[in-house]
Amino acid sequence: MSTMPTTMHLPQDASRLPMTLPRLLEKQRRGEPLVMVTAYDYPSARAADRAGVDLVLMGDSGAMTVLGYDSTVAVTPDELMVLAKATRRGLQTPFFVADLPFGSYEVSDEQAVQTAFRFVKEAGADAVKLEGGGETSVRRARAIVNAGIPVMGHVGLTPQTATALGGYKAQGKSAGAAVKIAHECLALQEAGCFSIVFEAIPSAVTEVIMPMMEIPVIGIGAGPATDGQVLVFHDLLGIREGRGAKFVQRYADLLDEMAVGVAAYAEDVRAKRYPGPEHGYAIEVGELADFRASFGLSAVEPDVEGAAI
Ligand code: KIV
Repeated sequence: MSTMPTTMHLPQDASRLPMTLPRLLEKQRRGEPLVMVTAYDYPSARAADRAGVDLVLMGDSGAMTVLGYDSTVAVTPDELMVLAKATRRGLQTPFFVADLPFGSYEVSDEQAVQTAFRFVKEAGADAVKLEGGGETSVRRARAIVNAGIPVMGHVGLTPQTATALGGYKAQGKSAGAAVKIAHECLALQEAGCFSIVFEAIPSAVTEVIMPMMEIPVIGIGAGPATDGQVLVFHDLLGIREGRGAKFVQRYADLLDEMAVGVAAYAEDVRAKRYPGPEHGYAIEVGELADFRASFGLSAVEPDVEGAAI
């Protein structure tokens, strides 16, 4: 199935209202699929906003897609804060969720609440996301919710702890592992999370868990039964090298297009085709004559292109 758009029009709904928690729940109740995408800077946020998505996640995947780390483990709150602030500046209507990076919420409830406050107060996030459904993550989620900040959970493949999970691979593939995920979802829901991401779990496991969930579930590699889907901006637009995970669907190949554009520019510079006369600034003939005279040069030479207008 090819889903590369041939002609695609941007939504023109100028009266679009900012997305809120009640509106997200209303959409979920009506069975309207929720669309989430990651964004990490002003242009990606503008693209997501103009496309009319419901939620934007400044994911810690930005550690890899934008900052070039080989995993999400090393990135710090300060580094993600820069990305979150830039993303916020580009958003008008989507609900904005910021990921809490590894090590910024696990130590204590106080640490978790303080980091969450930073993303809300300094970066303007509407909510934060944390990974895992074990005892610690559930306790931290509850503490942040109690402090008044909406929390999105994340179960299944949780990249921050991929090493402990045995690598970047699907989770919940045995009955026992699937039961554990179901319990984690229910615990996060009970802790007050407004939504949960299911990442890389078998579609049939998602189907069993979904009827137990009251809050919106956003899937990535979790099949079609969830309330919505999320993809990483750079994966769906092909702004990274390599094939990516099984669940990735590419809708463009922008890295190739970017390389082609830069190569064309390089070729033009080397062939002296760029810059052309149309790219230059003019100076009045008299001013140029005076300028030249101050260096002992004669008035404008007739062959100095674009010198005088
Ligand atoms: O960081 C991220 O991009 C994520 C999504 C995959 C949900 O957590």
